[in-house]
Amino acid sequence: MASAEFTSSDFERIERETFVERLEWHAELPSTNDRVLEPNWSANADGPVLVLVDRQTAGRGRGANRWWSQTGALTFSLVLNTAERNLPMDRWPQVSLTTGLAICQAVEALLPEADIGLKWPNDVFLQSRKVCGILVEVPPGRAGQLVIGIGLNVNNSFADAPSEMREIATSLRDEAEQSFSLADVLVDVLQRIEREVLSIDSESSSLMQRFQQRCVLTGRTVELTVGEQSTVGVCHGIDADGAIVLWTGEQTERFYGGVVSRYE
Ligand code: BTN
Repeated sequence: MASAEFTSSDFERIERETFVERLEWHAELPSTNDRVLEPNWSANADGPVLVLVDRQTAGRGRGANRWWSQTGALTFSLVLNTAERNLPMDRWPQVSLTTGLAICQAVEALLPEADIGLKWPNDVFLQSRKVCGILVEVPPGRAGQLVIGIGLNVNNSFADAPSEMREIATSLRDEAEQSFSLADVLVDVLQRIEREVLSIDSESSSLMQRFQQRCVLTGRTVELTVGEQSTVGVCHGIDADGAIVLWTGEQTERFYGGVVSRYE
């Protein structure tokens, strides 16, 4: 079956112009992350493998969240062999945010005037609405592999979606009022992920600076829920190691996980 979104020369180009060594395309899957987490999926995959889908029917987000992918969105999972790519485990906590930085840059290249930022820990916002979700997972029993699942709203549109949805989600097409080549966007995103994610340096002050510049929660009052416990504080940005920094009025606290349940 042929892809409605990509041509065979797009597939060749992705393998030629990016660090992807193997591409697996599907017309439809429940979830690209679930596909690569299947126990018998190419467990010995060495180089970066890209699992790309035209239509995803049961996409997952963090925790119990679901991810709705419409036709025209870019939906894929990238499987990295971290040992081969010199990405030690102590840098994995920054993978989601550095992937977010790569997406911010790719979106900015297309919409230079737009407001683009990171919503800790795994979302990219465009004009104050979510344009991309990132789900990083570790496949059980496959030492050193890391899965980066990405859903980027490109040519899909929320124009006909219910107003609650339109208030929180957007796409490149909705903001730019034009369509984009999915293959061009994908190649650019993959090249930027290679540059950002494979050169993470948590000691780097420039990484912290770039998180700070992109953090859409800085200066806002945030409620962060970790398990049963909620903390309310003013966000002072994101540390180089990927923690969100909250000033509670009494002290500065850093959190490496949790859900931003509210912000104003
Ligand atoms: C989130 O919003 O919490 C993250 C959403 C991540 C969605 C992507 S789409 C490709 C990959 N496959 C999935 O099932 N989820 C991720």
